[in-house]
Amino acid sequence: MRLDAFTLFPPSFDWFLGQRHVRNALELGHEIRLFDYRATTPLSAGQVDDAPYGGGAGMVLRVDVVDAALEAAYASERPRRVIALTASGRRFDDAFAAELTGEPHIALLCGRYEGLDERICEHLATDSVSIGPYVLSGGELAAMVVADAILRKLPGALGHEDSAVEESFSQSLGGAPEYPHYTRPDVYRGWAVPEVLRSGDHARIREWRLARSRERGGE
Ligand code: ADE
Repeated sequence: MRLDAFTLFPPSFDWFLGQRHVRNALELGHEIRLFDYRATTPLSAGQVDDAPYGGGAGMVLRVDVVDAALEAAYASERPRRVIALTASGRRFDDAFAAELTGEPHIALLCGRYEGLDERICEHLATDSVSIGPYVLSGGELAAMVVADAILRKLPGALGHEDSAVEESFSQSLGGAPEYPHYTRPDVYRGWAVPEVLRSGDHARIREWRLARSRERGGE
């Protein structure tokens, strides 16, 4: 898979790119590329944003700037999924992450300031995605959240193959949150690990886990 992030702040991805599972994914042949809107802006003095029509605070990322960045990166063929990160987009969830895992090439468009010119979402992006009902100062954190949720589903990206299959909100748990986990010590300050998990009875353990997951509830 190739993941391209378009941003005004490429260094904000440094920490993410250093994470073990991200490095694993890169070593497996997946690719993450960063594109700086400023490097390809058609405007003078590196301008990328402008005041909002109709007035109001803040600056809006321009549609011509984003289009130029996409044009420079892809010339004729743009990725099948171009995802604009915006607080007003479709809420990101595990099912959407799983869907995106099947894509060979995804572009993530980060906004800054007040946001993106709406024409970016309407005409340049195939999807507008929000990671939650709050406003971030930019799309970079959201892009990393989306990229992380996708990458950890790629076979081999996590150390253990099963880890991403049965976890919170996945299909194998019917979209419900994951069951609780415990590790040693068996008892700590009188807080004991449930007996069933130490029983070695895999059928009972499975039943217990599914019941706890259901108890925690889905949406
Ligand atoms: N940009 C600003 N806020 C955002 C959010 N909640 N999700 C995605 N992108 C954003």
